Amino acid sequence: MLETERLTVHVGGVRAIDGVSLNISAGTVTAVIGPTGCGKSTLLRTINRMISLLPSVRIEGDVRLQGASIFTSGLRVTDLRRRVGLVGADTALLPGTVMDNMTYGLRVSGQWRTERARLTRVEEALREVHLWDEVKDQLDGPAEGLTAGQRRRLTMARALALGPELLLLDDPAAGLDPVATQRIESLIYTLRQRLTIVLVTNSVRQAARVSDQTAFLWLGRLVECSPTARVFTTPAERLTEDYVTGRCG
Ligand SMILES: Nc1ncnc2c1ncn2[C@@H]1O[C@H](COP(=O)(O)OP(=O)(O)OP(=O)(O)O)[C@@H](O)[C@H]1O
Ligand SMILES: [Mg+2]
Repeated sequence: MLETERLTVHVGGVRAIDGVSLNISAGTVTAVIGPTGCGKSTLLRTINRMISLLPSVRIEGDVRLQGASIFTSGLRVTDLRRRVGLVGADTALLPGTVMDNMTYGLRVSGQWRTERARLTRVEEALREVHLWDEVKDQLDGPAEGLTAGQRRRLTMARALALGPELLLLDDPAAGLDPVATQRIESLIYTLRQRLTIVLVTNSVRQAARVSDQTAFLWLGRLVECSPTARVFTTPAERLTEDYVTGRCG
């Protein structure tokens, strides 16, 4: 489904990603863990080409989605970002209402042409993140009026409404309380039945709870990528063991 081949990304003179080769199968959750600054967010931003918005970025190697390079000129970046949604803990809401937030991308994409088609899509996506019952009476109220956990699920619903094949989540539960965190985690667990997910997390426990495979980055390099159960019991590298047991990082 997704493959990075010797991917190297320089950002502002820093080699943030260094020769990373990763293989991700459809319908799985891949956790990306590693200490702060190891390149997790840069990796996600490269996969949906958000990184290209920064000045002075240099990319070597390749990223292939369903076998095709995401850097080929034939692929429109807007199409790529619809297929590959990126949601982070700091993903901003639009200043308008809950409904404005949900329909903006749908309007821009031009695929959901009628009001009715858009409303159906909005309801589906909000139900999928278990937010519909909580917000159906405040769709025309300000999105900022929702709780932190609800806002986080709204940004996920907004990405899901566009029908992505791959969902990139950058520490989606950061700063949330345990109940809101649990909601996000169970959502990730159910979404994998129809989507492929790459989950960046600063919580190794979260990686252990929800992912199928875990990739461990250190200083931009991929130390190892293995089935999650193995990473947490018998990792191939000593550095991985030290990190997941909290001895370093
Ligand atoms: N816009 C930028 N300009 C300059 N350097 C950057 C930029 N974005 C990232 N970097 C550098 O690239 C490296 C990787 O950063 P990145 O944000 O990907 O790390 P991270 O693993 O997501 O960290 P965290 O866990 O704190 O979110 C760091 O050295 C960082 O300083
Ligand atoms: Mg980050």
